[in-house]
Amino acid sequence: MHLRSFSILPALVVGTALAATPAQWRSQSVYFLLTDRFARTDGSTTAACDTDARAYCGGTWQGIIDHLDYIQGMGFTAIWITPVTENLPQDTGDGTSYHGYWQQDVYSLNSNYGTPDDLRALSSALHDRGMYLMVDVVANHMGYAGPGSSVDYTVFTPFNDQKYFHPYCSISNYDDQSNVEDCWLGDSTVSLPDLDTTRSDVQDMWYSWVKGLVANYSVDGLRIDTVKHVQKDFWPGYNDAAGVYCVGEVFDGDPSSTCDYQNYLDGVLNYPMYYPLLRAFSSTSGSISDLYNMINTVKSECADSTLLGTFVENHDNPRFASYTSDISLAKNALAFTILSDGIPIIYAGQEQHYSGGNDPANREAVWLSGYSTTSELYKFIAVSNQIRNHAISVDGDDYLTYKTYPIYQDTTTLAVRKGSLITVLSNLGSSGSSYTLSLGGTGYSSGQELMEIYSCTTVTADSSGNIAVPMGSGLPKAFYPTANLGGSGICGK
Ligand SMILES: *[C@@H]1O[C@H](CO)[C@@H](O)[C@H](O)[C@H]1NC(C)=O
Repeated sequence: MHLRSFSILPALVVGTALAATPAQWRSQSVYFLLTDRFARTDGSTTAACDTDARAYCGGTWQGIIDHLDYIQGMGFTAIWITPVTENLPQDTGDGTSYHGYWQQDVYSLNSNYGTPDDLRALSSALHDRGMYLMVDVVANHMGYAGPGSSVDYTVFTPFNDQKYFHPYCSISNYDDQSNVEDCWLGDSTVSLPDLDTTRSDVQDMWYSWVKGLVANYSVDGLRIDTVKHVQKDFWPGYNDAAGVYCVGEVFDGDPSSTCDYQNYLDGVLNYPMYYPLLRAFSSTSGSISDLYNMINTVKSECADSTLLGTFVENHDNPRFASYTSDISLAKNALAFTILSDGIPIIYAGQEQHYSGGNDPANREAVWLSGYSTTSELYKFIAVSNQIRNHAISVDGDDYLTYKTYPIYQDTTTLAVRKGSLITVLSNLGSSGSSYTLSLGGTGYSSGQELMEIYSCTTVTADSSGNIAVPMGSGLPKAFYPTANLGGSGICGK
């Protein structure tokens, strides 16, 4: 990997946490996977995995190690894996804990995924490649196979007493923040006992735990689950104790409420952008202007839009292809995810155009795709990450901290500028007609030659810096100065 000047360092300090900072994470591109669903130790590409059964399907940390070429081959520089802690053992009416969000002993690892040595080996294997490990963590709750009214608290480590928890009540009003923070998630089959994170002993236990987790497994960053179910003043101490970049899940599309959490954590998942991004491209009649406007809203409302996690798919929402099978629309959604502000996060299976709907259907086993590296979206993601990685290596902070600036919109087209990279998106779909867009506000100079990196065609800016953008078949376009492509491998340069 040629993209980071410090890429040699991890190989020299294997086994030591890199304690990667927000600034170091800003340049990463993340592949998110469910450990149980990505790869098995036996390398099988045929082992059955019925998502409806909500059972363990056999994915492991060793399986991930064995498929890092597949991930790195798409240009990703980091992975985010689902929680590693030991979960409830039962097969419940809500299925098993294959996803990892029903923890009972946070000082033991989930043995379905492997041993402590396996997790350390994963961390080392990533660091040997100059890649980062992000681990999913849960501080809001534990998991219990039974109703909230009859929990045996002695099953939990270290929170083995009722005193550490809020009294049982089910969340009933999402508009009432104290109800959201103090009452419990889950249902009567699997309850999610809600830790009283206002207690100083609970805070001490969590802060010391997270510090140990990061150190013991050389973790480079954390994705934090259910952040809005914990009071805000819990998070700065947690983020500090972790000592690495933390990105929180605030499952809320309202920019003002979600952005506020970035005043307590390094970053949050960009749910405010997720909804207009999905709507803009999941049909040929989606609103471009809502997405255009949200780019500006997030820039002004969030403390730093370049430290948000940008995504259009994850394990909690229906996959993009469950809304439309149109491959051009999928490419536009991917191009926006990878080439706009923030840290791109692509959900495993997105590169194979998986189309599962609501949880649990959206948690398909990736091995059943045969890990094809020639699928259309695998290749599209690779080129998109390649131009982003290259722009970062050439332009540094002039790319990374440049906040995406929308420069053009009509009812079906959106153009944005980020540094010297211009992305033009369309929601006309694969049967979209051909037309030429005259695009101003590019920042390019008179006569400058630009490469359109998806089709490898060149255009020359006119005397005003405008470019003629040939659109067709609903495909996205991305332009970068040809003179700066040297050594990138893009379009033969
Ligand atoms: C980390 O390792 C230390 C030393 O072995 C141990 O005491 C601690 O419990 C471990 N913490 C975690 C979260 O694994």
